Amino acid sequence: MEMYHKGLGFKYLLDTKYFRDRPVKDDLGFLPPPPADKSYFNAPKHALPEPDLELQHSLWECLKNRRSIRRYSDTPITRKELSNLVWATQGVTEKIGHHLLRTAPSAGALYPFETYLYLNNVEGFEKGLYHLHVASFSLEELKKGDFSKELAEAALGQRMVARAGVVFLWSAVPLRCMAKYRNRGIRYIFLDLGHLCQNLQLAATALGLGSCPIGAFFDDELNELLELDGIEESIVYLNPVGKLS
Ligand SMILES: Cc1cc2nc3c(=O)[nH]c(=O)nc-3n(C[C@H](O)[C@H](O)[C@H](O)COP(=O)(O)O)c2cc1C
Repeated sequence: MEMYHKGLGFKYLLDTKYFRDRPVKDDLGFLPPPPADKSYFNAPKHALPEPDLELQHSLWECLKNRRSIRRYSDTPITRKELSNLVWATQGVTEKIGHHLLRTAPSAGALYPFETYLYLNNVEGFEKGLYHLHVASFSLEELKKGDFSKELAEAALGQRMVARAGVVFLWSAVPLRCMAKYRNRGIRYIFLDLGHLCQNLQLAATALGLGSCPIGAFFDDELNELLELDGIEESIVYLNPVGKLS
């Protein structure tokens, strides 16, 4: 067997395969499903405007033109643009029972992640860290202030993070998914977030904005900034968006 097959990453993939002739076995015991979503009840809330769904760019043009863009100008992102970006990632498009179905699919409609936003240069918003409350399509204000430097440093010094109008930060909440899918559920978190990120990139392209996925960062520096424990909830993916320079 190749040496790299024995490493943690490969072992995870092999141990979480489904087989027709074997039931899934693990030693996790009963996993109680946690709350389906998160709300900072006491935080000031900022409702986002209705997104503009009449943009003229076709899906095909956006697919063709999408690129990871790392340079942004100082021009602020408008509230409407912010609304379109957020809606593209997590807009609620249908309610079925207690499920809030959204623009992006999620395994078992469990949505095992949360969306945080660093608003750095958005019209009508003070700089700071916010949390998306999906059901009300509003932003919960967590901390006001300029965190560009801390965020860019946490992202291994990638300067686009400090230059962006808005930085999307997505956390994983593993238990939401693991309560149903056990260890295999971890796979689904990353698959789910891939959908959000692609929606965001296509929406940014349609709006003439630049964006770039980021997987390289010091995890716990971001967790500390957002006051996440890094275990039950941990940042796993970033995506800055800004006006083209
Ligand atoms: C999971 C993932 C993580 C990435 N992390 C980074 C990153 O940390 N820094 C960066 O500059 N680009 C990052 N990228 C962007 C890739 O470098 C980019 O998608 C690739 O070069 C292809 O270019 P394109 O997106 O313009 O087609 C990441 C992309 C993905 C999908």
